[in-house]
Amino acid sequence: MPDTITITDDRTGKTITVPIEGGVFPAAAVRELDPSLFIYDPAYMQTAACKSAITYLDGDAGILRYRGYPIEQLAEKSTYLEVAYLLLNGELPNPAQLAKWNDDVIHHTFIHENMRKRFVDGFHYDAHPMGMLVSSMAALGTFYNDAKEIHDKDSRDKQILRLIAKMPTLAAMCYRFSVGLPFVYPNNSLSFPGNFLNMMWRIGDYEIDPRLERAMDVLFILHADHEQNCGTTAMRVVGSSQADPYSSAAAAASALYGPLHGGANEAVVRMLADIGHIDNVPAFIDEVKSGKGSRLMGFGHRVYKNFDPRATIIKKTAYDVFEVTGKNPLLDIALKLEETALNDPYFVDRKLYPNVDFYSGLIYQALGFPVAMFTVLFAIPRTVGWLSHWQELLGDKEQKISRPRQWYTGEAARDYVPMPQR
Ligand code: CMC
Repeated sequence: MPDTITITDDRTGKTITVPIEGGVFPAAAVRELDPSLFIYDPAYMQTAACKSAITYLDGDAGILRYRGYPIEQLAEKSTYLEVAYLLLNGELPNPAQLAKWNDDVIHHTFIHENMRKRFVDGFHYDAHPMGMLVSSMAALGTFYNDAKEIHDKDSRDKQILRLIAKMPTLAAMCYRFSVGLPFVYPNNSLSFPGNFLNMMWRIGDYEIDPRLERAMDVLFILHADHEQNCGTTAMRVVGSSQADPYSSAAAAASALYGPLHGGANEAVVRMLADIGHIDNVPAFIDEVKSGKGSRLMGFGHRVYKNFDPRATIIKKTAYDVFEVTGKNPLLDIALKLEETALNDPYFVDRKLYPNVDFYSGLIYQALGFPVAMFTVLFAIPRTVGWLSHWQELLGDKEQKISRPRQWYTGEAARDYVPMPQR
């Protein structure tokens, strides 16, 4: 069987045959048939907008790999910073490379005092931490004049390091502001997740439980990248205009903010609290199925149609955390919901399974994070994914500024109607 596809334009009888490589054929084939012919593909359901060597995802088989390494192995054996190095550089670091990378990141955790004193202090007292984070990420770029030098590798590497290192600091700062607590400066003797937990929770003495520190790191690993999702696509689209990485990452974080993307974990916990008791689960499921109520948040995925491997790891991590913190009372409702949905033809037929967000919110809540911080916790590690894709984009000779076409459905040309005749 030839690995080609043949397309015939029945209007003209013109035919073109092009190769299929890795399950993809170039849309340039259509351009060759007729340069004014376009493919209508809302939400890019069937469109590969780039080549990428970073993350492999097979939704039917429930496979997720970073640079070829299975997510299960990385979650068990690696650390977030090692995974960050892997995503950015394509290979696992050797001991010397890892030591240098850890040291570099941990020594870029501080932010300019004006960020806190003048910028963050200007927010309204009840500002949503994610809104604050998005704005702070864009504002951070204004402190670095070299941020615009995106064609200079040394400058790019420096901005990447700064963003990865300063995200936990920004995130904790937004939280502390929202609850009126004084800012805790980074402590460079702590690990990446340990430093974040310390900046979040330290009031007087604060002991970091190593099991919770590890759970935080695992959550960071699981959220580090997920190929061309909405946020990463935003990063690539904005980055394609050659904007600086802080502005592009702020755009990506804005995309993540939405409830259908990174905001889903927040929506899951609100949904579980609304359901209130396991006895109310069947009625809730009926309402979801009727289409009149909300969706079953934390279920379903554009790509995973079998299971989300991250959800399996997160469920185990949840139990590890509950051993330390005590069980989240919403867990029983979540388990009942999962069991009911997985045995209901509505969800089975549509291939709807728990996704990464179904259990992550319960862990965050058990760790003490308020619901409004959940998407912020997603944005911290996803920053390395965004930056890996940004770097790849800039080195890709086939990429240009993103500029899709449209299917115009408006009025045909008509003459202006003077006001008295309307
Ligand atoms: N609850 C109930 N029905 C659902 C759900 C759900 N969570 N998700 C999809 N469906 C139904 C949908 O109504 C449709 O039914 P029908 O064919 O009868 O019209 C069918 O399943 C296909 O849905 P779709 O909206 O075409 O699927 P999609 O690929 O566009 O949506 C999704 C993917 C993740 C946006 C969607 O499943 C959803 O809204 N889930 C809830 C929100 C959520 O958990 N989001 C987190 C995603 S994972 C984290 C991340 O990567 O950001």
